[in-house]
Amino acid sequence: MNLSVPRRVTAAAALAALALGGLAGTSASAAPAGGAGATAAPDISLANVKQHLTSLQSIATSNGGNRAHGRAGYKASIDFVKAKLDAAGYTTTLQTFTSSGATGYNLIADWPGGDPNQVLMAGSHLDSVAAGAGINDNGSGSAAVLETALTVSRTGYQPSKHLRFAWWGAEELGLVGSKYYVNNLPTTERAKLKGYLNFDMIGSPNPGYFVYDDDPTIEQTFKSYFAGLGVPTEIETEGDGRSDHAPFKNVGVPVGGLFSGADYVKTAAQAQKWGGTSGQAFDRCYHSSCDTTANINDTALDRNSDAVAHAVWTLSAGSTTPPTGKVFENTADVAVPDNGAAVTSSVTVTGVTGNAPANLAVGVDIVHTYRGDLIVDLIAPDGSVYSLSNRSGGSADNIVQTYTVDASTEVANGVWKLRVQDKAAADTGYVNGFKLTFP
Ligand code: TRP
Ligand code: ZN
Ligand code: CA
Repeated sequence: MNLSVPRRVTAAAALAALALGGLAGTSASAAPAGGAGATAAPDISLANVKQHLTSLQSIATSNGGNRAHGRAGYKASIDFVKAKLDAAGYTTTLQTFTSSGATGYNLIADWPGGDPNQVLMAGSHLDSVAAGAGINDNGSGSAAVLETALTVSRTGYQPSKHLRFAWWGAEELGLVGSKYYVNNLPTTERAKLKGYLNFDMIGSPNPGYFVYDDDPTIEQTFKSYFAGLGVPTEIETEGDGRSDHAPFKNVGVPVGGLFSGADYVKTAAQAQKWGGTSGQAFDRCYHSSCDTTANINDTALDRNSDAVAHAVWTLSAGSTTPPTGKVFENTADVAVPDNGAAVTSSVTVTGVTGNAPANLAVGVDIVHTYRGDLIVDLIAPDGSVYSLSNRSGGSADNIVQTYTVDASTEVANGVWKLRVQDKAAADTGYVNGFKLTFP
């Protein structure tokens, strides 16, 4: 048997990419992005993201302390973002609208290329409330999306889908800018939108890691990214529809996003898993004058910015990558009892002639707090056992890896199982996904 263990980040990217192929239960499909042709997302520079926040803070400071709709600080924010994108080769469009008697602006930036009939959008609101500079709400999302767009340009990324980025005006007045954009988008253009990713408050000073519970593929793409980091996530519950993804969702565009918390209070359980302070709001400066550059948690901003890029890269690789093989996957969660009996996740392989290959790719995604507790085996249809991991990795947590197994003596068709047993008390987890790729 030949075991090769790729770098952790590569395995996580591959698993996230597999999620594009179908998410509910067991499914088989031609290999989607993640095979040949898919490019892993680059790291997004936290220093650059923070520099954008410093610029937005300066803009507020020199314009009466805010960047609110209808005020000079908002237009200056738009001009700042637009200049960076123009210099990076984007096609930018300033869309104007009127709200509360003042002119508002959306900024749309298209990256030339990609399939014009399959558009992936990422956006964030650029306006603050009048009370302050709005650095977490929502300089954070605006800066992360800006730096992601600039990184697309810097790396010369050529996605399969067409990429479009957006900065919305007057979100704080009731999603005014994003509603205007969606309402004025012709139906034919709407139909081309394959996804809208929203980033509103992603650097909260006492952060949580919340993923929107909307389109399952988008949700899973974010969750896989955080699983690869070993950071637990929760479903966003601080008000569905309270940000700019809502108008898109309302017309049937698949949406998703990230959020690090506003004025809800962090529970003891949340402080346990994420650190920070329980009994205190995720953002005590929400909609206040103290929402300045001091109101940012760098770790949250860093992780979430990288997650933005991960989702943009993964979801824009698209389906135009030539199919390379057959993928069988099971993404149903299976709880692994603490220090208990073995459990299995199964996939049924059909339509493959003859034996399995000598390089069967076995994708394993186990979320656990201590991988050294776990015995992980692949079971062939005839019951043959292939060891993948035997209490290895010590105090590291998740197992998110693709193993290469010589399965050439096994008949391919039939039920294959991933068997997982937890052999020590205290740490726990679950099987998040199991995938076999036949080349
Ligand atoms: N959009 C809100 C604002 O700008 C913040 C907010 C509250 C939010 N709940 C949310 C953002 C849920 C995203 C998801 O004030
Ligand atoms: Zn706000
Ligand atoms: Ca255990």
